[in-house]
Amino acid sequence: MTATSPSSPAHPDANWWRQAAVYQIYPRSFSDANGDGMGDLPGVTARMGYLSALGIDAIWLSPFYPSALADGGYDVDDYRDVDPRLGSLADFDAMVAAAHAADIRVIVDVVPNHSSDRHRWFKAALAAAPGSPERARYHFLEGLPDGLGDDGGLPPSDWPSHFGGGAWTRVVETAGPRAGQLGQWYLHLFATEQPDLNWDNPEVREDFHTTLRFWADRGVDGFRVDVAHGLAKDMSPPLRSKPELEILVDDGSDPLFDRDEVHEIFAGWRTVLNEYNPPKAAVAEAWVPFTERRLMYARPTELGQAFNFDLLQAHFDGAEFRAIAEKCLSEAEASGASSTWVFSNHDVIRHASRYALPDSTTLETLNAWLMDDGVSPEPDLARGLRRARAATLFMLGLPGSAYLYQGEELGLFEVADLPHDSLQDPTWFRTGNTLKGRDGCRVPLPWSSSEPNFGFGGTPWLPQPEWFGHLAADAQDGTAGSTLEMYRAALKLRRELQAEESLEWLSAPGDEVVHYRRPNGWEVLTNFGGQPAQLPAGVDLSKLVLTSGGPAGTAGTAAEGATGATIAAETTLWLAP
Ligand code: GLC
Repeated sequence: MTATSPSSPAHPDANWWRQAAVYQIYPRSFSDANGDGMGDLPGVTARMGYLSALGIDAIWLSPFYPSALADGGYDVDDYRDVDPRLGSLADFDAMVAAAHAADIRVIVDVVPNHSSDRHRWFKAALAAAPGSPERARYHFLEGLPDGLGDDGGLPPSDWPSHFGGGAWTRVVETAGPRAGQLGQWYLHLFATEQPDLNWDNPEVREDFHTTLRFWADRGVDGFRVDVAHGLAKDMSPPLRSKPELEILVDDGSDPLFDRDEVHEIFAGWRTVLNEYNPPKAAVAEAWVPFTERRLMYARPTELGQAFNFDLLQAHFDGAEFRAIAEKCLSEAEASGASSTWVFSNHDVIRHASRYALPDSTTLETLNAWLMDDGVSPEPDLARGLRRARAATLFMLGLPGSAYLYQGEELGLFEVADLPHDSLQDPTWFRTGNTLKGRDGCRVPLPWSSSEPNFGFGGTPWLPQPEWFGHLAADAQDGTAGSTLEMYRAALKLRRELQAEESLEWLSAPGDEVVHYRRPNGWEVLTNFGGQPAQLPAGVDLSKLVLTSGGPAGTAGTAAEGATGATIAAETTLWLAP
């Protein structure tokens, strides 16, 4: 059966996602229409004009489902409803209709690795006895002897949780012979409130097909698949030791991640997604360090795309950026997918801040910086933003699709000094307040420099810093050279630039300048160095249409990004054919 959604955008193009610019909305922090301090779906609808003027092709919404927010909504109580604080299903439909009317596609997040502990299935599992069908939708196991007389007093394995602490929690039985006593343990690779689902159970598989159809029937155009590499697990006894969560092997034999069996699940999903015309798109969040393995999720017979976090993890370095782009493009092509690019999302420190820190920054010093409330090491914010803008224009010129995170178009920095008592990320609680976690990139957006709460709505659920005022959308709107105007110009020009999914690398003098040309003649040049660099011979600056260094297309254009024979430090230029 093939169904065409009544609200599909005007031009049903099955390949729309291949080179799309997709804007990630973290709904609680985007725009608050009802003034309760939490962003909502009517808030998204109200900002459709802004999104349309930005020039993006699609929005991806992080979870808006009913949730206790133990993990910012990635703890889902009901996969087929809207959190009442964020709106209703009718609000969702209105948002999709408004997006489609603006020719913007809609991608929603699916969270299949775990439900929340308030999901009806988990409640039923807790109410049922060990060995029951209700328990078999999750991973409930007996513990190991603790040597102190309790045969199940230790967790079934040494697996850690992503947010700190162990991955097993013991329950008090409510049914069966041990009612009233401590009993089995359940697995949660994330927070305690996020029990992992058992994907060997056909009922779990079938239910997610129902969820995909539920949203597809409501007109969504694609899905972002959370922790896609985690669904298949080797639970055969005895459980293998895995004291670190990192994936060290590229042969599918890790007990928890990127196992070969996961691909059967997504082949099943593709069958469901292909019931629609055009087929629904999907992108895997698979933190797999091996490009070839990661691209298995992106095969046309599976999800179609997988996030590529390589640039996100790279230093601002020309050789590194070029090597990553070359490798990812050629491997994406070989797999039949298109590459994806990401610098920021709701899980990482915003890239304008990352690039403001010394290149020697490691995860440890990054955390020290957050814990010291932004004091050490001292960030060079001007440099961070300059590099972020240059990196963005380098990336937006590449073939493939660009995933942008709300607020990066304003040049927002991480809010590094959030008061400790405002923090909400489970990382903060599960590490005994030693790691701050991800709240600093989730602070509600500044829309207006003069309105209360910077125009977000009610008193925001995370406090906004003073400096948001300078970066508010209305302060940048129409201001030549602002980050917002740079994004708007780039996203508009990008539609002309993205003719074919390929590029040619051109040689440039020195190591710092990287230069490429798209088949239709568009050229992109980035100087990654901290000093002005010589322009490659033959570059015709009269074709300059955009620079990350300041306004383009006006008198003085070239002076902002390039002069005569040089390109400014940490700057990208776009040259039209
Ligand atoms: C993904 C999400 C992250 C969430 C985790 C558990 O990595 O991006 O925000 O905490 O999955 O669902």
